[in-house]
Amino acid sequence: MQRNIFVLMIFSIILAACGGDNDQGGNASQVEQNRPAQNRLQVPALLDSRTMSDIELVLQKGDHEFYPGVASETMGFNGDYLGPTIRLYDDTDTTITFTNNIGEPTTVHGHGLHVPGEIDGGPQAVIQDGESWQITIPVRQEAGVSWYHPHYMGKTAHHVHAGLAGLYFIEDANSQALDLPKTYGVNDIPLVVQDRSFTDGKMNEYAVTMDQIMNGLREDTLIVNGTVDAYHEVPQGWVRLRLVNGSNARFYRFHFGDDVPFFKIATEGGFLNRPVELTTLDMAPGERNEIMIDLSAGANMTLWADLLSADPEDGASWNQNLPRVNVVELRVNETIPASGTLPENLNDIAYFDRSEATQTRNIVLSMEVNGNNDQALDHEGHEGHGGETAGHMSLFGINGQPMDMGLINDRINKGEVELWQITGERMPHPFHIHGASFQIITLNGEPVSEADRGWKDTVVVWDEVTEILVRFDYEATEEFPYMYHCHMFEHEEYGMMGQFTVE
Ligand code: C2O
Ligand code: CU
Ligand code: CU
Repeated sequence: MQRNIFVLMIFSIILAACGGDNDQGGNASQVEQNRPAQNRLQVPALLDSRTMSDIELVLQKGDHEFYPGVASETMGFNGDYLGPTIRLYDDTDTTITFTNNIGEPTTVHGHGLHVPGEIDGGPQAVIQDGESWQITIPVRQEAGVSWYHPHYMGKTAHHVHAGLAGLYFIEDANSQALDLPKTYGVNDIPLVVQDRSFTDGKMNEYAVTMDQIMNGLREDTLIVNGTVDAYHEVPQGWVRLRLVNGSNARFYRFHFGDDVPFFKIATEGGFLNRPVELTTLDMAPGERNEIMIDLSAGANMTLWADLLSADPEDGASWNQNLPRVNVVELRVNETIPASGTLPENLNDIAYFDRSEATQTRNIVLSMEVNGNNDQALDHEGHEGHGGETAGHMSLFGINGQPMDMGLINDRINKGEVELWQITGERMPHPFHIHGASFQIITLNGEPVSEADRGWKDTVVVWDEVTEILVRFDYEATEEFPYMYHCHMFEHEEYGMMGQFTVE
């Protein structure tokens, strides 16, 4: 009991004191300057499910060199850091075997995949150290970028931070028919964007202060596909970038210098109907977007990111005075053959109508748990269900309820459209749902713009209501329920997550 009171006191002190920004500012070697980028962009290996009968991914420890000659302790799939990109095809079943060699239990979740709860890889689907988990993914969804990463209670933030993440590129008849740039790593380039910090070139291991738990861990050095300060040679033509925010909590604003236009062509779960011209694009953790830029004029172009900060006390200034860092310098090389163009029409999305909704649910991403803090904190002392919780404090919740593996927060009917009205307390939160893609109708109180009228599985919610329409087509039982949660891993780990069944 004494301990509970102590924890409550600390919590209130932090709440009162955490108005400030915990950023250190950009790494001096990265901040905009005239020096060219130093390192060739690493591009994850591509495994094509059409040409490989057995796809095996080994989760392992690594010693990745972010800076030449300095090894950091990392983790990866079949390598030191991150994992291969796996190309999946709509209407094709693909079997993948994950083998856990990291020395402790974890899980592998398919973020963005429309699959039954049993193979979704949530916190229940534990792979013990030394064991394998084989799943057959019945791919039945539109072309898009999904990703795989651990989802083990209490260790998700650690494991992803160490490097356990990789991409699924889903292709369908439409994506194959469109005349887009499609040469992997050449003009169709995956960019997994993360922030890390380093001491003498060595990546700092995952550790968070109370302040970082509140605001999310935001570090000072941007890495792309595990590369610091990256450049990449591209053809003199259209280039397609598959942006993935794989950070623990960092939000980014991407742009090619002021007012250079580019086109957004896809959100997480599919193509937009038509390309949308933009000059900046904000992305929160868990989100994916595809963009295209025309480099046919032959000039090099740098993709920049402004490192957005969290300011829980004053939402209006959360994006001011931002460090601007290099994501990737695109260097045009006219000897590389160009291919593909920007199509006028990309998709024909079947939009849900609000009137179809059979249920309305209200969801609040809570920064404070219910008055009954004793109960929440008691939870900490427990071994957890099946010994699978890591004993984290339950500081946050969904509708005031901290994540509890023994509790089903919602029960949803399969095949019915639902309207979810979502808000987030104190700061913007990337809200993510397993098992389906959804459509946004209202975004933080405003009607959704064309650029966001695509299939999504992660959306930034804040103090005004965000409304989405969603339909779950696969089953998730009490044994293997789906999750919904904040995709700032620090919030997720400290309780901002819930479970639901679909039957
Ligand atoms: Cu990207 Cu529940 O996860
Ligand atoms: Cu997910
Ligand atoms: Cu959050």
